[in-house]
Amino acid sequence: MSLDEQNAVLFGNGDELPSNHSANPHMNELIDQRRRQILAGGAAVGALGFLGVLPTIAEAAEQSPELPFTRRNRLPFDAIPVSRADTITVPAGYRASVLVPWGTPISGNLPPFLEDASNSAQDQAEQVGMHHDGMHFFPIDGRHGGGNKSNHGLLVFNNEYIDAPLLHPNGPTTVDGKRTVAEEVRKEINAHGVTIVEIRRNQLGDWEVVPGRYNRRITAATPMQMQGPARGHALLRTLYSPGGTATRGTQNNCANGFTPWGTYLTCEENWAGYFATRDADLPRELKRYGLRDSSRFGWETLPGDEFQRFDATRKAADGRGDYRNEPNHFGWIVEIDPFDPESTPIKHSALGRFAHEGLIFAPMKLGSPLVCYSGDDSQNEYIYKYVSNGRYMPVVGKPDRLLDDGTLYVGRFNADGGGDWLPLDIKDKAFQAACSKAGVSFANQGEVLINTRLAADIVGATKMDRPEWGAVSPDNGEVYFTLTNNSSRTKADAPNPRAANPYGHIIRWREDSSDHSGKRFRWDIFLLAGPNEDSRGPNGKPLDERNILASPDGLWFDPDGRLWIQTDMSGSQLSSGPFGHNQMLVADPRSGEIKRFLTGPLGAEVTGISATPDFRTLFVNIQHPGEGSTATNLLSAWPDGPGRRPRSATVVVTREDGKRLM
Ligand code: FEO
Ligand code: CA
Ligand code: CA
Ligand code: CA
Repeated sequence: MSLDEQNAVLFGNGDELPSNHSANPHMNELIDQRRRQILAGGAAVGALGFLGVLPTIAEAAEQSPELPFTRRNRLPFDAIPVSRADTITVPAGYRASVLVPWGTPISGNLPPFLEDASNSAQDQAEQVGMHHDGMHFFPIDGRHGGGNKSNHGLLVFNNEYIDAPLLHPNGPTTVDGKRTVAEEVRKEINAHGVTIVEIRRNQLGDWEVVPGRYNRRITAATPMQMQGPARGHALLRTLYSPGGTATRGTQNNCANGFTPWGTYLTCEENWAGYFATRDADLPRELKRYGLRDSSRFGWETLPGDEFQRFDATRKAADGRGDYRNEPNHFGWIVEIDPFDPESTPIKHSALGRFAHEGLIFAPMKLGSPLVCYSGDDSQNEYIYKYVSNGRYMPVVGKPDRLLDDGTLYVGRFNADGGGDWLPLDIKDKAFQAACSKAGVSFANQGEVLINTRLAADIVGATKMDRPEWGAVSPDNGEVYFTLTNNSSRTKADAPNPRAANPYGHIIRWREDSSDHSGKRFRWDIFLLAGPNEDSRGPNGKPLDERNILASPDGLWFDPDGRLWIQTDMSGSQLSSGPFGHNQMLVADPRSGEIKRFLTGPLGAEVTGISATPDFRTLFVNIQHPGEGSTATNLLSAWPDGPGRRPRSATVVVTREDGKRLM
């Protein structure tokens, strides 16, 4: 292999290859049947109308008693056009400024960012990580106080992955496809994870970093604890943790969540590519997650325990003597307490193991179970829901067990617009029957959770078009999920109505039970992304120049019930499609209106969003500007200007008059 080819293997884009080879239907048979019935009746209807499901939820929403329908303009700005400018563009009357780009010093000796990327691995552990993604703003009084402070808080965000060619002065060193410089790999490990940084508005109204005691980096080497049913499981025993209770690090953290008790949740997405195994006969808990014989960055090719833990090859008599089980410590939701810099992050196994995009909570109700949702972002994977066994009682303090003791369900989206949450619970009779029918056995619930994807295959979950972020409407509790695209779908079905779906769509559902904890829901499709001639907006009409988009990914409801949509287009969609650069749009689900609000710089993804409680500051993350750059070929000048390395960063959006954003 040439060096370029080796590097293509070592430093590829990191998206997971499809690994769902289960026979679960895409529901083609069902939908074909339904289509034939309707066509036989002579109905002339559009791509979605034939399902007869759209009006059901739309009508329900308008009749919703929670909030009266108002005719107030909820999108009071002029849509901006698509853009190919290497900058951030926002509508007239708004301002965007850059905060905490990669390398910003936050802790320790506050090592300054060096333009030639010659900062050490230790420097990187004291600076903002690379490639910002999911994010949350915690008001500084969020733990002890009302949580209303809007000029001072902790900004917590994921650093999903790295561009190794930009992280080092002249890119990564490899010899015969192997890494040879430990300091380089340590820097890569330290550029991953999560950044916690205290920020405050100064007298001019600008946000700046406070070098305070909360500032902290979580990296791909930070010690972590495992909790929930899989804690201590034989499949989690490693040389580092013979008892199967602890691990080190979190990586490829994509979207996020946050709990009502003021902690941050980071979600492990394309983690499988960080490991390699030379074993030919892979156990199901590795095979179903796409483990391969080479890793994305080659960390395991260096000697020493800190690197060898990424080599899952069997070497010892059992799991306590090697790292065959190390990948089983990844694919989880990780809870971090930003207000306690000494705290150890917790991996919550009850929430399942897959390529977690994010975690989104249903509205918390006193005395009701805690309910949250998470998508498995890989082609033809599933959407999950978790319901706690305990009830949410905030008066008793931090309710630790709520995320460790509950039922994990997976979604089946039926062709008639109904849906079922199917329990992945070893004590559930239907689950036991499905296992026995499939000839699969699990020794205990820990093993079910370590094999979440297999368990979901067995019960007949619906294969989706890469579930990304979710968001819950504050108006009526409807849950929205982006399905970003799916190049490997060959036949359309009802919830994924386009074969080889290049543009993606947004699905939504309404739970039958008011506290979201039940097993039935009704779904419809909110938006089919794409160009004018192949799209459908929330108002039922094709999208137009104000709002064409593709590959929806980030999703967030603001406090007034507007839905903010961020895109993650890549490759030819960015370079030759009609969509311009990645962008952020705002939709009003009540009126069906949707407008483009922000466009990003060249090669960047727009991802991660949070706001201050007064909604005067919006934080948005810009990831990988100038994607594909090398030290000698800089493809974007954002944010620092020509000739300087492009850097992922947070963008602060405010109104020029300083008022509430909308
Ligand atoms: Fe990291 Fe699913 O996007
Ligand atoms: Ca990303
Ligand atoms: Ca994403
Ligand atoms: Ca994405």
